[in-house]
Amino acid sequence: MQNPNINTYIEKNKDRFLNELFELLRIPSVSADPKYKADVIKTAVCVKEKLVAAGADKVEICETAGYPIVYGEKIIDAKLPTVLVYGHYDVQPADPIELWTSGPFEPVIKKTDLHPEGAIFARGSCDDKGQMYMHVKAFELMMQTNSLPCNVKFMIEGEEEVGSSNLATFVKQNKEKLKADVIVISDTGIIANNIPSITVGLRGLSYVEVEVTGPNRDLHSGLYGGAVANPINILCEMIAKMKDDKNHITIPGFYDDVEILTAEERAEMAKAPFSLDEYKKALDLSDIHGEDGYSTNERNSIRPTLDVNGIWGGYQGEGAKTVIASKAYAKISMRLVPHQDSEKIMKIFGDYFKSIAPKSVKVKVTPHHGGEPVVTPSTSVAYKAASMAMETTFGKKPVPVRSGGSIPIVAMFKSELGLDSVLMGFGLDSDAIHSPNEHYGVFNYFKGIETIPYFYKNFAEMSK
Ligand code: BES
Ligand code: MN
Ligand code: MN
Repeated sequence: MQNPNINTYIEKNKDRFLNELFELLRIPSVSADPKYKADVIKTAVCVKEKLVAAGADKVEICETAGYPIVYGEKIIDAKLPTVLVYGHYDVQPADPIELWTSGPFEPVIKKTDLHPEGAIFARGSCDDKGQMYMHVKAFELMMQTNSLPCNVKFMIEGEEEVGSSNLATFVKQNKEKLKADVIVISDTGIIANNIPSITVGLRGLSYVEVEVTGPNRDLHSGLYGGAVANPINILCEMIAKMKDDKNHITIPGFYDDVEILTAEERAEMAKAPFSLDEYKKALDLSDIHGEDGYSTNERNSIRPTLDVNGIWGGYQGEGAKTVIASKAYAKISMRLVPHQDSEKIMKIFGDYFKSIAPKSVKVKVTPHHGGEPVVTPSTSVAYKAASMAMETTFGKKPVPVRSGGSIPIVAMFKSELGLDSVLMGFGLDSDAIHSPNEHYGVFNYFKGIETIPYFYKNFAEMSK
């Protein structure tokens, strides 16, 4: 049943809820680039102030070896269940900046085809400041309307976009402090604004950087061309070798641990609404691409991948320069599915990459971050509480879907704290997270704030 108090409170505070989010969005909290260090820390302080203002107790900035974690709580009765909210205040770099139609850290509302009510354009608007802040405002709403039905703890970190390694340490060292009954996270999406969904799976990740060295210096491509290995050509050949003509990854052992879904499970997945035509149209593609034998939705969720994320070397300036570079580089990510292990994959990647390198070059493989895949239950009390909450506010029962993205800490929450997460996100795939012109629907922002209190209420009642 709808609770009119929720909508009344949101309606009254609409502008303020937007303006406060804008304040957060104006601080460029790019965790990957040390240039923004002061801004990342400033954002943590800002989140702390917002939690205090919303009514949280014991709000603190927890220092780590990297960026701080903001913690806060409201314990109303130790006998009641506790919801632990996780989110992140760091964002991806904004580049390529010239492709933004307005400044990445100057939030503005603009209409789009999928967001006729307007969307907030700014880096982090959807991933994850906007979605994280919905929880702070929903908490304020429950405090102000005397309707907080259980205990709540907030843990908002600043290193999600760089692998959450310091959060992993924090979680291991603070198990008592983080004691809860469920974790709720809004850092994923829904299928469409009229097709709600709840994410029940995330892929893992192994991220590596490779370096191929040919001659000891850049060479004249006429004097030496054809007679020595060109590391850029070699790197391209090596990368090409990592997939066969069916787009299967060729690293020996890569698929050994991959979970195989039953025909029934795949049939169930195929029920999720999806239009290939619209998918292609949205991306301006005349055709799709991927592993033989799998649908688009399977390729980007239950199947592992290998993708080059960046490749460079040689001359990139104006005009032409006839040169054979000494070195070539690439950053490569592998998305993993249950029950692959990110360290094992990192290792077999390195072994294979070295094994296919011709003697004419030297190669170096440097592991970056990793994270384990996770599947969350769709039968738990918390899932049902979320499903019912979305059904109340969207008027439609959400579909469980597995996502292709990664939130490395989710698997750790399970292994270290024994807690399942409910991935109740409100973004759209078309919101351009990590891309230029990231945006988040105004509808989605307020729908999140509206839905979260129902989740708390359902969860508290159903846990009795
Ligand atoms: N929020 C995203 C992950 C996501 C987005 C999952 C949409 C499902 C749907 C998160 O901030 C993210 O970008 N994670 C990174 C992993 C990290 C180690 C850099 C990713 O998936 O690339
Ligand atoms: Mn995120
Ligand atoms: Mn992200």
